[in-house]
Amino acid sequence: MARRLAWGMLGVLIILGTAVAHAAEKPRLNPSGFTPSQVCGTCHQDIYAMWKDSKHARAFENPIFAAAYREVRREGGSAKELCLRCHAPIAGITGDLEARQAVTREGVGCDFCHSVTGVAIRDTGSPFDVEVGATKRGAKVGATSPAHAVQPSILHKSSRLCGGCHEFRNDEGVAVISTFSEWRASSYPSELRACQDCHFVPVSGRIAVQRQGALGATIPDHRLQRSQEQLREAVKLDLVRTTRNAGRLEVVLAVRNIGSGHAVPTGHPSRRLLLKVEARSAGSGALLGDATQTYEKVILGGSGKALLRDVELFLRGREVRDTRITPGQARSETFAFPVPSGEAVRVHAELEYLYRSHVLAGNEWRVQVARHDSLIPGN
Ligand code: HEC
Ligand code: HEC
Ligand code: HEC
Ligand code: HEC
Ligand code: HEC
Repeated sequence: MARRLAWGMLGVLIILGTAVAHAAEKPRLNPSGFTPSQVCGTCHQDIYAMWKDSKHARAFENPIFAAAYREVRREGGSAKELCLRCHAPIAGITGDLEARQAVTREGVGCDFCHSVTGVAIRDTGSPFDVEVGATKRGAKVGATSPAHAVQPSILHKSSRLCGGCHEFRNDEGVAVISTFSEWRASSYPSELRACQDCHFVPVSGRIAVQRQGALGATIPDHRLQRSQEQLREAVKLDLVRTTRNAGRLEVVLAVRNIGSGHAVPTGHPSRRLLLKVEARSAGSGALLGDATQTYEKVILGGSGKALLRDVELFLRGREVRDTRITPGQARSETFAFPVPSGEAVRVHAELEYLYRSHVLAGNEWRVQVARHDSLIPGN
């Protein structure tokens, strides 16, 4: 009890202490270099809290990247600079290639994105033009800030900003990460739907603490809006038909990518979508047959062998085998099972998203995206 009270008091003191610090000093922005995101967060509190909860804030320090990066460093060579270019993008600009400064370890931080002035996606070595300092760039027109100059930037409404990192073609011409080009080949650009329209959606919040009165105001959700719900709305599974002939049951299913702005799955090739189907006797429950169809991107090396380690994917990938579902595509799949005639059969189909890290064994994430059950009467 006493201990809890003591902790409580300490909490109050810390809160008081921070409040005094806020009132006393004006947050200092680095006029000639990158400012830590926490400093931006003193005014942009809501956005800071969202960003902190995003994969961008953990792009360098998350354990899966860290494990892969240790492996790359053990191998030596210049690959490590390649990894930093997207996972800790200011390292290459400030020269902090050992990530000694906290601001480098922030991963994809506020001041990186809001200092970008141009992107050349084909330049795989250094695609970003960055002007770091007193001016912050954003999509809003007419914003004024007491802390920094503001420059309206159409790039911040464009997928190109994202494409500098969400696209990578290696020297062999293999697109290891192709989210941007998958989007570009879809109908979304002509519908004027950029990455931001699905991943930085407006949510209620204040743009800065200085804007107290703005009731009902919205800010772009910097958590990246990528929930299981979003996945379930984007990918659908339908039973097209079942045909029963003598001892054989044919099941036709359709998998449709109706809401994802790129292939499903997209990004790093550690993600896949599985369509699992099984047929069971309705009476005894005995398994009559099952099958799995996998949608994935596999990167192959020179010998035609599938590559798994990141350094190999990025540097030594020669060929791609790609069975993923492109935006808007409906893929129909036919399965056939031997079934005893006269017996009613239950068909169960499910679509599962699977993320499995090969660097950190045991790191697995499965989401059931859709399912379908039907009973086929005996003939
Ligand atoms: C991956 C790049 C990226 C990172 C990291 C990032 N932002 Fe943004 N930010 C954007 C984009 C893109 C927009 C515009 C979104 C839109 O309007 O569609 C934006 C919009 C904003 C806006 C304008 C809000 C409005 O209503 O127009 C502010 C302020 C802002 N960001 C602050 C921050 C702060 C503070 C951080 C760090 C805590 C941060 N951003 C991190 C890309 C980023
Ligand atoms: C002292 C408070 C304060 C600090 C610190 C601060 N800002 Fe701002 N910032 C503001 C205010 C106020 C606005 C204007 C909001 C509005 O439109 O009403 C603003 C606007 C912005 C915008 C919107 C510009 C646009 O055109 O969309 C961006 C982007 C931005 N800030 C980024 C940053 C970044 C990045 C940092 C840290 C390097 C930062 N700010 C630090 C107060 C601050
Ligand atoms: C400087 C590089 C960089 C830029 C610019 C960038 N990203 Fe990312 N993004 C990353 C990295 C790296 C990750 C993965 C982090 C990890 O898991 O290690 C990521 C992850 C993501 C994720 C996955 C989130 C999840 O929960 O799985 C989404 C969505 C995303 N980014 C959207 C965007 C959008 C939209 C933009 C443009 C407004 C953008 N990114 C700009 C580097 C970047
Ligand atoms: C029409 C909406 C839409 C657009 C446009 C869109 N996305 Fe997505 N994104 C989704 C949905 C839905 C998911 C979840 C399903 C999936 O994995 O494809 C997703 C997932 C992702 C993921 C996470 C992949 C994973 O499995 O962890 C990344 C990264 C991403 N998007 C980046 C981008 C980038 C970069 C762009 C622009 C080039 C973009 N998205 C455009 C809807 C969209
Ligand atoms: C061109 C930008 C880029 C480069 C270069 C890059 N990555 Fe990534 N990496 C990403 C993006 C973007 C994601 C995650 C989002 C996605 O799946 O699209 C990611 C995801 C990962 C993941 C999965 C993390 C997780 O949380 O699931 C690992 C591991 C990884 N990268 C390691 C590396 C290593 C090691 C290197 C250097 C050999 C490297 N990356 C180089 C952009 C890049």
